[in-house]
Amino acid sequence: MKRRNFLNQSSLGMTSILVAPHVMGCSSKAQGSAAARKNSPYVISTWNVAEANSIAGKALENGVNALDAAVAGVAFEEANIQNTTVGKGGAPDRDGNVTLDACVMNHHGDCGAVLAVENITHVAALAKDVMEHTPHVILAGAGARKFALERGYTPEELLTESSRKDWKKWLEKGNYQPEINVENHDTIGMLCCDTEGNLSGVCTTSGLAYKMQGRVGDSPIIGSGLYIDNEVGGAVATGLGEEVIKTVGSFLIVELMRQGRTPQQACEEAVQRIVKKQQGKPDFQVAYVATNKKGQVGAFSVHSGFSYSMYKDQTNQNIKSNSVF
Ligand code: GLY
Repeated sequence: MKRRNFLNQSSLGMTSILVAPHVMGCSSKAQGSAAARKNSPYVISTWNVAEANSIAGKALENGVNALDAAVAGVAFEEANIQNTTVGKGGAPDRDGNVTLDACVMNHHGDCGAVLAVENITHVAALAKDVMEHTPHVILAGAGARKFALERGYTPEELLTESSRKDWKKWLEKGNYQPEINVENHDTIGMLCCDTEGNLSGVCTTSGLAYKMQGRVGDSPIIGSGLYIDNEVGGAVATGLGEEVIKTVGSFLIVELMRQGRTPQQACEEAVQRIVKKQQGKPDFQVAYVATNKKGQVGAFSVHSGFSYSMYKDQTNQNIKSNSVF
């Protein structure tokens, strides 16, 4: 999608998410030249999301802080109606309602989350607003939607012509079976390290396609879909949320890194913990990406097909993850 179109289609004015660095509280000396930077910033995201990664990476290079950069990056995919697993155009539940989940966590350990929100495209920004403008961490359902409207978000129909058509087709059989996702996208988890060397992260999703009404997965659950400890590192998850929640996967990875595992070792151990509980080969996908304070990165998945995106030094790469199967 062309950037201009994205700006036009975004229901949340970009002034709210891609504002000038000084408005976001970054020190002006961090902007501009590489010489002024204290740290070489980078972005890692689940799946092949080059445009989202570039938006976040360029924001970081301009001195935007890690959380604002991540929220701006994932906003691209939230507004991308070709992406059927995140934001507008995401697959609905069995009754045809598109309900979105997201969370954010910053380098102070502050966090915010929204669960099962309807009619709001930019739920990662909304989760950040919960963190910054309420005394709470989580708002769910109608309350989250009400809060969004109070904050000036424009309500939108999130079910597109195409996602409605797919849902109607699914209804013909209605055979609910979570599927292994080996596509090039799913839940977007994004970890950013800014010029100050601070880590923040975001996780945003429409959840499992044709889920039961009210079902919420791992993505907005702090510790499951996302966890950041700025002294240690950060991790994000994608795949079948039920299995991530049972092992509190992202928190587990950060704690394993605290104990000395590399991000790669920690991701592998977290995936193996899920696989060991199964009788035989699992019929679902789970994948993690993680980074530590040394800038090392790791990724691992249950099945092959998972890849992650990395932006560093003005270069975007899509990297295939190793897997158990
Ligand atoms: N990982 C997304 C979900 O299970 O909802």
